[in-house]
Amino acid sequence: MAQQENQPVRSLTEHFKHHDPARQGSAWDALWEDKFTPWDRGGPSWALHDLLKERADLFDPPNADGGGAGRRKTALVPGCGSGHDVLLLSELGYDVCGLEVSPRALEEAKRVAAEAPRDDAGAGRGRVTFVLGDFFADDWLREAQAAGAVGDGGKFDLIFDYTFLCALHPSMRPRWAERMRDLLAPGDRGRLVCLEFPSWDPAETGPGPAWSLPSHVYVAHLSQPGAAVPTDENGAVPGDYVPEQRSDGLERVLHLKPRRTHPAGAKGGDVQDRISVWKHRASE
Ligand SMILES: C[S@@+](CC[C@H](N)C(=O)[O-])C[C@H]1O[C@@H](n2cnc3c(N)ncnc32)[C@H](O)[C@@H]1O
Repeated sequence: MAQQENQPVRSLTEHFKHHDPARQGSAWDALWEDKFTPWDRGGPSWALHDLLKERADLFDPPNADGGGAGRRKTALVPGCGSGHDVLLLSELGYDVCGLEVSPRALEEAKRVAAEAPRDDAGAGRGRVTFVLGDFFADDWLREAQAAGAVGDGGKFDLIFDYTFLCALHPSMRPRWAERMRDLLAPGDRGRLVCLEFPSWDPAETGPGPAWSLPSHVYVAHLSQPGAAVPTDENGAVPGDYVPEQRSDGLERVLHLKPRRTHPAGAKGGDVQDRISVWKHRASE
């Protein structure tokens, strides 16, 4: 992840090297405590904003559930950090749940939310709920449900992953894909949006975080959630690996190069990030 000004040079790879991949919460919290957050973009994702504004064919208005009850659509941002994208989705009309494993990140997200300028234009702002928890556990989901921040059946209409998968050890990717599938609203309703970063070749960058994520890594895991995928020590998946297109997997309905993204996702002005949008393969 790009080093930002006024932050000492420090290696995230070294920091996480000796931590159990399944229990990295305290290691993330230590970084937040030290205010070492080189991933923080200081604002919401332009690429997400443009996608939701420009692709009405894939994203129904968030304040209509299609059933006439007028309930807002729900969104989840796992590993939300300072919560910039949580606030963006709320501005766009979603009831949003921002999930963090780090208590200090959550404090920061609440501070940012409290100080954010309010703009009630368009569909009107949706509710923001920040919850503390591990994406792979269920306790936060119960808390979010009790707060009314989750849609029908404990699922979300939209899930946004940006710099979350790349923060996880590659051994967690099968569980990440299963969890995404399980949390996404069924049938044609749910949309998982991945802003794919960093997309460069893992052999160039070595181990993470950030673990490099060329597009075929998302395809390899989301097509067959939970399946073991051949992955080397840099997190690289062979480019010619062909995943099984399982009926309980997700299907990619859009893959594009965003018009604009944060400079961290560009090289020499050329956007390297990609956006993929996924839904359940099987119909309800
Ligand atoms: C690289 S940061 C990205 C933060 C945010 N998405 C952004 O764009 O600024 C990854 C975040 O995920 C959080 N995180 C890591 N593992 C998590 C887990 N298992 N459950 C929830 N949050 C997690 C970390 O605390 C950290 O704030």
